[in-house]
Amino acid sequence: MNPNDKQDADWHGARMDFKESMSYGDYLGLDQILTAQHPLSPNHNEMLFIVQHQTTELWMKLMLHELQAVRTGIREGELPPAFKMLARVARIMDQLVHAWDVLATMTPPEYSAIRPYLGASSGFQSFQYRELEFILGNKNRALLAVHEKTPAAHAALERELHAPSVYDEAVMLLARSGFDINPERLNADWTQPTRSDESVKAAWLAVYQDPEHHWALYELAEKLVDMETSFRFWRFRHVTTVERIIGFKTGTGGTAGVSYLRKMLDVVLFPELFALRTAL
Ligand code: HEM
Repeated sequence: MNPNDKQDADWHGARMDFKESMSYGDYLGLDQILTAQHPLSPNHNEMLFIVQHQTTELWMKLMLHELQAVRTGIREGELPPAFKMLARVARIMDQLVHAWDVLATMTPPEYSAIRPYLGASSGFQSFQYRELEFILGNKNRALLAVHEKTPAAHAALERELHAPSVYDEAVMLLARSGFDINPERLNADWTQPTRSDESVKAAWLAVYQDPEHHWALYELAEKLVDMETSFRFWRFRHVTTVERIIGFKTGTGGTAGVSYLRKMLDVVLFPELFALRTAL
């Protein structure tokens, strides 16, 4: 029998009446999420543009949720759960790398039809993205100004600016594990971006030279490298997709566009973890 022949009220025992109880849509708040798409142009392709940004923001929300717990986990010595969450963040990033393929189906004329309606809005103003950069150590106080009109976002970024990053916690763990870390590094001004430090590099090098003795730190280092690698791919796919769609036009956010995004490819989140590889 074709399963669709079964068309009576008893559909495979599934519950049908949700007048009194919570349904799927209730639980997920779908009425809010699915009514939050408001194209401003008459162009068909704007929906893709909106959904791509919104879904990325949702995944960023999850990455922040995971990374905050990773930071606590490292601080409290709960490394196995932290590893699992770091792996999750890397897989989310990988997925977002592939998501660019969907946006790349938007052609230059399709984007040009939308662009006049975007005003000065740009992903550059994504507070969750900035929070992600901050929690991973790429701090930049100047960029808080963008968020002055949204106090909750501004406060979240201000908090994150002053907190040690996930990587700072890893460096403190190196010190607690007996490695001789420069005290200036351990008491660094957390509002500054991560700077490479010779004592941290020497410690990671020792870990990589004798993994059996430092397995947890070795695994932590590799998980961080995994995550940063995925993040780099995301930045790269962003700039190549942007170049494909807008060429070398300036960005709606006011930067030079592709040349700005190319500069961001040089950001290194965990400098010593990459530098030590030359020495191995
Ligand atoms: C047609 C699609 C897109 C174009 C043409 C585009 C273009 C740009 C440009 C030119 C910038 C530099 C800032 C500016 O002057 O505006 C930028 C920044 C940014 N965009 Fe996109 N973008 C696109 C899609 C996306 C999507 C889907 C996301 C996902 C949320 C995104 C997230 C970001 C972020 C987070 C930044 C800040 C990067 C940084 O400061 O390092 N963009 N984008």
